[in-house]
Amino acid sequence: MAVAEFVVVANRLPVDRVVGPDGEETWRTSPGGLVAALEPMMRSANGAWVGWAGQADLELEPFEADGIDLIPITLSLSEVEDYYEGFANDTIWPLYHDVIAPPQFHREWWEAYVRVNRRFAQAAADAVAPDGTVWVHDYQLQLVPQMVRELRPDVTIGYFHHIPFPAHGLYAQLPWRDQVLQGLLGADVIGFQRAQDATYFLTAVRRRLRYEVKGPGIAVPGPDGQMRTAVARAFPISIDTEPYLALAAREDVQARAAEIRASLGNPRCILLGVDRLDYTKGIRHRIKAYGELIEDGRLDVEDVTLIQVASPSRERVDAYVHLRDEIELLVARINGDHDTVGHSAIRYLHQGFPREEMVALYLAADVMLVTALRDGMNLVAKEYVATRADDRGVLVLSEFTGAADELRQAVRVNPHDIDGLKDAIMQAIEMTPAEQSKRMRALRRRVLENDVNAWSSSFLAALADARRR
Ligand code: G6P
Repeated sequence: MAVAEFVVVANRLPVDRVVGPDGEETWRTSPGGLVAALEPMMRSANGAWVGWAGQADLELEPFEADGIDLIPITLSLSEVEDYYEGFANDTIWPLYHDVIAPPQFHREWWEAYVRVNRRFAQAAADAVAPDGTVWVHDYQLQLVPQMVRELRPDVTIGYFHHIPFPAHGLYAQLPWRDQVLQGLLGADVIGFQRAQDATYFLTAVRRRLRYEVKGPGIAVPGPDGQMRTAVARAFPISIDTEPYLALAAREDVQARAAEIRASLGNPRCILLGVDRLDYTKGIRHRIKAYGELIEDGRLDVEDVTLIQVASPSRERVDAYVHLRDEIELLVARINGDHDTVGHSAIRYLHQGFPREEMVALYLAADVMLVTALRDGMNLVAKEYVATRADDRGVLVLSEFTGAADELRQAVRVNPHDIDGLKDAIMQAIEMTPAEQSKRMRALRRRVLENDVNAWSSSFLAALADARRR
């Protein structure tokens, strides 16, 4: 029976599987910003979350975790390969990130994407109460808005796109470009990270479908010939700042930061990179620039260390397998050439860490390096800024991230320009404490004002406007 006033649809459920000492299985909500932002809404509106538990062939009944109703979607092994690893992460992901890796186009992947999107849409349509709201998330589910509208014309539908939307010349490569636009246009509000993403989307709609576009509004013809208006604009996402502030203030976390410094031999300067191991993140460019600075004698491993956390991601997709080989070869070469017995040039960690440890790393880092070649937002940049209540530390930030639109006082870089990147790293290392705190204060003001709650409120307000239209 349809009971939820508010239904979130995302590829992943917001839970982690926890296996107890006796082998019993429980689920704990994962600490992501999205779930934190939506939790109050989920509770007050009798919400439900439709998503995949992250394992093939896992058949689960709907269940509750920490007061949230979860509706699991089952994917077969071949659907994980064709829909998730294939179309979502080897077609759309590289295409939408400016073809940094070549996108693969396979008709059977597309067929699996349509089939799986329909399964998510059906589950949402079955769960949502009359005149309720459905909020669909991200590139794995671009067809769901229109599919939900066909099944349930009474509901209000939002879609938020967490990754970039590409320029038309690139988007036009997609063999199913018109179907994807139609899928997204099933939503009343289509949210993007940057104004530029919304502009590219509106251009694609105008050029491919020839729909009338006025400002952010699109006139979309319905099946009955009636027109309705969909709105596409930017809603830059952020983090749930509260747990970061709390952890950064904790004495044990600060002690851990000092311990990290000491265990590296108390270098004068610690540089930090934190990324999913993804070719969009510019990890290779960053390490190359850093290696050259050592090679040139501008940095000395006796007093500088780079900590690179590269968390494992999408490990069965070819482009990720190759990237890992490339990065690990580069790190080993630089360390082999420059390490001393007591000091390492790069401390490379191919692991994920709990949030406490991440905050300790942020506090230990004098310079945070975010050098993505293309990134929807980059929340690591915002996490670093949020934790620096001491107003110290320098953020080096690629101009190709959504965060660059807001975090204007960062040291901006074009990561493709290795000489420019080297100079930016030196500028960050040599920045005076007074200049650091002037910049960090302004950065923190922005991140603390526009947190994930402000983001979800503004999106939901736009959806409420759409309902009144
Ligand atoms: C990006 C995407 C998310 C995705 C996350 C992790 O941030 O925008 O939709 O969940 O990466 O990737 P994964 O493939 O592990 O879900």
